[in-house]
Amino acid sequence: MERYARSSAVAVIRLRNPPVNALSVEVLQALEDGLKKAEADPSVKAIMICGENGKFSAGADIRGFSTPKRHRVALGPIVSLIESSEKPVVAAIEGIALGGGLEVALGCHYRLAHVKAQMGLPEVTIGLLPGAEGTQRLPRLIGVPAALDMITTGKHIPATEALKLGLVDEIVEENTIEAAIRLANKVIGQPLGPRRLSLKPVPKLPNTDAFLREALAKVKKQARGFLAPELCFQAVKAATERPFAEGVRRERELFQRLLSSEQARALQYAFFAERAVSRDHLSLAPSPLPGTLLSDVYIYTGLGTMGQGIATSLVKAKIPVVALEQDLEYLNKGRKAVMGLLEREAMKMEGGAQTLDFHNPARLQFTVDFDLLSDVDLVIEAVFEDMALKKEIFHKLSKICKPGALLCTNTSALNIDEIASATSRPQQVIGTHFFSPAHVMRLLEIIYGRHTSPTAIATAMQLAKALKKVGVVVGNCFGFVGNRMMFPYVEQAVFLLEEGSRPEAVDQALEDFGFKIGPFRMSDLAGLDVGWRSRKGQGLTGPSLPAGTAARQRHGQRYSPLPDLLCERGRFGQKTGKGWYQYEKAGGRTAVPDPWLHSFLSQYRDSHGIKTRYIDQEEILERCLFSLINEGFAILAEGIASAPEHLDVIYINGYGWPKHRGGPMFYASTVGLPHVLAKLQKYSEAHPDVPKLRPSAFLKKLVAAGNPPLKEWMSYLSRQSPKL
Ligand code: 3HC
Ligand code: NAI
Repeated sequence: MERYARSSAVAVIRLRNPPVNALSVEVLQALEDGLKKAEADPSVKAIMICGENGKFSAGADIRGFSTPKRHRVALGPIVSLIESSEKPVVAAIEGIALGGGLEVALGCHYRLAHVKAQMGLPEVTIGLLPGAEGTQRLPRLIGVPAALDMITTGKHIPATEALKLGLVDEIVEENTIEAAIRLANKVIGQPLGPRRLSLKPVPKLPNTDAFLREALAKVKKQARGFLAPELCFQAVKAATERPFAEGVRRERELFQRLLSSEQARALQYAFFAERAVSRDHLSLAPSPLPGTLLSDVYIYTGLGTMGQGIATSLVKAKIPVVALEQDLEYLNKGRKAVMGLLEREAMKMEGGAQTLDFHNPARLQFTVDFDLLSDVDLVIEAVFEDMALKKEIFHKLSKICKPGALLCTNTSALNIDEIASATSRPQQVIGTHFFSPAHVMRLLEIIYGRHTSPTAIATAMQLAKALKKVGVVVGNCFGFVGNRMMFPYVEQAVFLLEEGSRPEAVDQALEDFGFKIGPFRMSDLAGLDVGWRSRKGQGLTGPSLPAGTAARQRHGQRYSPLPDLLCERGRFGQKTGKGWYQYEKAGGRTAVPDPWLHSFLSQYRDSHGIKTRYIDQEEILERCLFSLINEGFAILAEGIASAPEHLDVIYINGYGWPKHRGGPMFYASTVGLPHVLAKLQKYSEAHPDVPKLRPSAFLKKLVAAGNPPLKEWMSYLSRQSPKL
């Protein structure tokens, strides 16, 4: 505790724990001591709580959750202590007030925020609920619907919205601390009863029961096996049914249940994994390429599906863009699509189109003139997935672009070294694999080639950061990390259809596991023709397939021609109205099981002499997930990725892996590596012609070493890539 000024009647308690003033044991103890001291000092007439360095607080120290309970200090009683103070307490909110940080502010009698501050109760995103009485105070302050929305989604809200909701009493544009001191001085001596949220009733709704019923249904639908949102709901519901103290007891029970759950552990692992991945690679090189990032012009070639999203993402990050297409027809189509996306993005933002300023040619211009590339710092190429075309473009780029320019390729699987070989500067060629839709998806897989320089890698990481994406650096191999792990997963899904399952059963099992979308719905969405083209290119199907090749064998391994057969019948998925499912029309979105496909599958099985069998959910999950995980172990052993956390971050942010399961490698560690190995051995014996089911040597090594914790896995490998 300190005084605002020597003779001031306002005591200041400053939360101090850089970088985000997390409420560690020490901070909580200091807060409690400060409060008691201020309370006992008769010359103190009011108290102000603020945070160091322009940030109020990011809430409880998440690392502290893994320490034994006896070493933790409960925040709830301290929040009660603030509220029960006989002297007015004002929260001065700058930067962020999140989780326990906002709960501290809710205990204060007045809340004043800077206009740029953000507030929220994001506990749900780390598998918890607000456990310091926030689920009981917030509904009393802003009403049940708004509180439920904030608590079950964990979203951050800006100060302006907080003011509208009544979460803060005042917002200021200038010095928050001085304004809070003024407020504290003003309210000295005013009655505090009406300011104590625990004493307020929860505002009544016209039909609370019906509202809660609907809200629960919505929460459950979105949660898909994720426990925290439903328990958040239960805690808020308790506020509508019980007096404050009983509601708090219920909140504590529910909080403890979540705290000890595997899901909370998984989400907290994911939180730190994401930060560690960015930190590792940002520190790879002392600085990015000179003159780049936000200051100069960026450009990319190709305004198709990916190019449109990439351009939108760059403009949103205020990076000047020049967009190039092969001819005017494609250019106009691309321009229209990009403008449409930007209009929609602008509508979601404060300040709208003006903020993005995308009608300004200095920010965004469209061209078919390759020569405009001569002065750019960075190129992102996004033309068709065709090696010959990519090489031709890179050859041209290497001639036209200035010497320092970084040349990025947005490929799904192609060899970065081969693309780089078409240039005279392979050290400046790098893969930047965006995910569709590129202005929405957070992942950016960054692929370095044999000659890519550390500076180029660091620049690509800076780009990811500027685009507010999670950049993960990986090595060069077919499909890199994400798609390479996806291939065996999708392969198993199709094999399961051959053996007797149906697309809807496979999708359901994986969606119940928590995937946003199952493999067949995903394939229909992305278009079956994409994979077909790639398989034709690899000579696995189509005219280049040697006559007499067995229908279900390629290179001595099991192969399923089912996806090719669908494509030959024009079933490309949503775009043609038919794929693994049927849709209301071409371009339709609602997948309905298709009787035609079911009878096609049984004819297929008959013609190949496959005996249909019932396949249960357990087998679906094990074959799809464990084959994907098995590939992950192979990737780690080859040095394509530097740690299991990197694979998990890729899967959570790019492939819809349920975050509450922590990513595939974390999941493997929770079910136990001996279990994963035993199942792979079993399935591999049953399907000896499927190499992807054969357990990886690294997995076997870890099991033999006694199933060590995930953090130690990499120490069992002798070889590490020098660039990771
Ligand atoms: N506890 C411990 N460390 C935290 C933390 C927290 N609550 N919040 C952030 N950090 C750490 C990060 O791990 C990172 O550490 P590093 O530099 O060693 O990697 C550092 O602070 C900076 O964080 P970011 O890299 O994420 O910085 P950003 O500026 O991008 O984001 C943030 C800041 C918005 C505060 C973001 O870190 C965040 O969302 N934090 C988590 C907030 C949260 O979930 N709070 C609820 C905690 S649970 C709780 O309060 C329970 C209560 O109800 C009882
Ligand atoms: P697309 O077919 O939608 O667009 C490609 C665009 O490149 C077209 O607009 C075409 O006119 C343009 N183009 C072709 N030759 C050109 C040239 N010489 N100069 C300038 N522009 C030229 O393809 P899409 O889906 O956008 O894919 C692009 C790349 O991104 C591919 O390598 C693909 O593998 C990769 N990718 C695709 C994803 C997806 O979900 N669609 C996801 C991640 C990566």
